[in-house]
Amino acid sequence: MDYEIIDCIDAGTEFCPCHLSETGDCILCSQLQGKDFCDCTNWKGVCIYQESVWKGDLPKAERKDFLCKIYKKHYINENVIAFTILVKHKLAQELSHPGSFIFLRNPETNKFFDVPISIMDSDTEENRLKIIIELKGIKTKMLNKLNENDNIVVRGPFWNGALGLKNIYSSFDKVSLLIARGIGIAPMIPIMKRLYSKGNKIIAIIDETDFSIDYFKNYFELCNAKIIKAKLLNNGKLSTELKNLIDEYKNEIDLVYCAGPDILISNILEFIPKDIKTACCNNAKMCCGEGICGTCSVRYKGHVVKKLCKVQIDPKYIFDGRRLI
Ligand code: FES
Repeated sequence: MDYEIIDCIDAGTEFCPCHLSETGDCILCSQLQGKDFCDCTNWKGVCIYQESVWKGDLPKAERKDFLCKIYKKHYINENVIAFTILVKHKLAQELSHPGSFIFLRNPETNKFFDVPISIMDSDTEENRLKIIIELKGIKTKMLNKLNENDNIVVRGPFWNGALGLKNIYSSFDKVSLLIARGIGIAPMIPIMKRLYSKGNKIIAIIDETDFSIDYFKNYFELCNAKIIKAKLLNNGKLSTELKNLIDEYKNEIDLVYCAGPDILISNILEFIPKDIKTACCNNAKMCCGEGICGTCSVRYKGHVVKKLCKVQIDPKYIFDGRRLI
């Protein structure tokens, strides 16, 4: 039987129970949703209800702001910068998982300027984070005012930057097809490293758009990836080139991961055979990352609302029954 399994990325972590438990909105715990029975389906080794009772029905503290130093700044092109940031060892370790991200801001600004950025690489020996930022609006342009040795405010760790994590974690010794467009290459790197470390062969189809793959070359070499450069979209539809490539590999691949705009993800989900596992980047707009502000809320039929900063779902359910207007 095929049914949707909802999970919460923070369940069982040091940040659980969160503020959602205070108002009867916990994503997983039926008792913290106001029901008087337990139907816990996603046991994480910790009873969320018991944690809440022990805490006196109060939530655990939210993520903190850390003042960190910019170790390196590099322009990939005039609109894309790469920062290497020195952080505490604990934070580097917590951000070494696929789907990790942080909120960043210029210390001269306030919390309204927090911008979510995916971790491209977390070096747990040197305690450095590598991130790529596309300079698009006021938040990222304020970050661009910072230079090497300046301080930067980092809030984290957050982990829901990829959807379908279960599919990634359950892939061993198979073939994975990774599809990325433009800046989507950055969040793809930790996923590629994880898959490769578990014996999966990597085939990467990359649409460079306006920045070159050269900056990421070492990571692809490290994972022995077969790189195919291709245009992915044509007038909002999958390009014939991409369709032919998927057809060529569909009998050998176990997992397809896509890092690109929602239109690309949704077209790929429709095109690939249904028995292939999928994962993708989480494109929801985020502001607090703590399930409070509602920026990341997506509405579905039946008055269902999913807060995508916390809800971890299989990509096949992202667009299913979604209300667009
Ligand atoms: S980002 Fe604020 S609720 Fe999800």
